[in-house]
Amino acid sequence: MTGRPGADRWVPPEGDVESLRAAAPGCRGCELWADATQVVFSAGAERARVVLVGEQPGDAEDRAGEPFVGPAGRLLDEALAAAGVDRAEVYLTNAVKHFRFRAQGKRRIHAKPGVAHVKACHPWLEAEVAAVRPDVVVALGATAARAVLGRDVRIGAERGTWLSAPGLPAQPRVVVTSHPSAVLRLRGRSGYDEAFAALVADLRTAAG
Ligand code: URA
Ligand code: SF4
Repeated sequence: MTGRPGADRWVPPEGDVESLRAAAPGCRGCELWADATQVVFSAGAERARVVLVGEQPGDAEDRAGEPFVGPAGRLLDEALAAAGVDRAEVYLTNAVKHFRFRAQGKRRIHAKPGVAHVKACHPWLEAEVAAVRPDVVVALGATAARAVLGRDVRIGAERGTWLSAPGLPAQPRVVVTSHPSAVLRLRGRSGYDEAFAALVADLRTAAG
């Protein structure tokens, strides 16, 4: 409890992943909890060597309460398989743990979380990294990269190289890459194969 705004007062100190997961539904660190169905915390191995960080849950994840179970998650699964990485051996989470959207009739349209949401939710990510103590953190897309590195990142300029995250516990090595949704948007168009291959290559680097 440092008096920082955001999730700090809801994050149990030195909690393991299970105690973090148990506390997350109570978080009121920003306003996004109010319209979401539920918090989407994380999935995967507490002892993982690699932590993958996405942006925020999507519509499917908000309903299921699990990260990366919708279309972007399926693409991520394909990329992990192509990179020879077992999904069960990584820890999957998001920079922001509640779904931000705008309602359009009955549809819920993804709305990118703002820097304020990323900052508000950061204590959860810090606590997860402290609990899992991975060697490597992979940031999927610019929002995740901002959360992990604490600065603006151009994915195209910095992807696939080793970076450091002074703002995270135990200083894991960091790789940034594209978000699976960005690759998915190219499906059926020119550039898709290259974009998918680049994501796979970055995942392979990270898991190396
Ligand atoms: N996109 C993300 O960034 N995270 C998810 O959990 C699902 C889609
Ligand atoms: Fe808390 Fe993060 Fe949800 Fe905001 S998005 S209420 S900070 S868990």
